[in-house]
Amino acid sequence: MNGTAIPQQPRPAVAPHPSGDPRFASLDETLDRYHYEPTALIQILHAAQQLFGYLGADVLRYIAGKLRLPIAQVYGVVTFYHLFTTKPRGKHQILVCTGTACHVRGSKLIFERLQQQLGVAEGESTKDGLFSVHQARCIGACALAPAIAVGDDVYGKLSPDKIASFIKKDLKKYN
Ligand code: FES
Repeated sequence: MNGTAIPQQPRPAVAPHPSGDPRFASLDETLDRYHYEPTALIQILHAAQQLFGYLGADVLRYIAGKLRLPIAQVYGVVTFYHLFTTKPRGKHQILVCTGTACHVRGSKLIFERLQQQLGVAEGESTKDGLFSVHQARCIGACALAPAIAVGDDVYGKLSPDKIASFIKKDLKKYN
């Protein structure tokens, strides 16, 4: 039986991003791969975060425009899921464990001290872009509580008073 071809929905024209940033061309390829389908928003956001490192306002506006979604809806999804970030992360992420074993040994104070001494709020990166500080739920080093991780390295038995020397000595090796 001969079927009648169903006309495809016209796709939005892909105009290059005015910034000239080549990562937008890669983002266009992702959007195209998902056929500009709003139901693929999470996958597209995920790919965008891998490309840009974080989801800045211009990227979110761009995606919302291409998917023809209200910007508020896109922001709503980004803020709902913890895996997305709207701030640039440091090259090295410092994870302060706030799991039970670490919490009862004072990880909250360690977290605050790190933020103060590095001059950043949670999730922000230091001025040199090297570090950002985040909270994590159990990093698997409970015997070393309170513990923090920098990339794959774990540092244990910390205390708020050790943070200054930790920054001076241990963080120096990351660049
Ligand atoms: S609770 Fe902190 S490492 Fe497990």
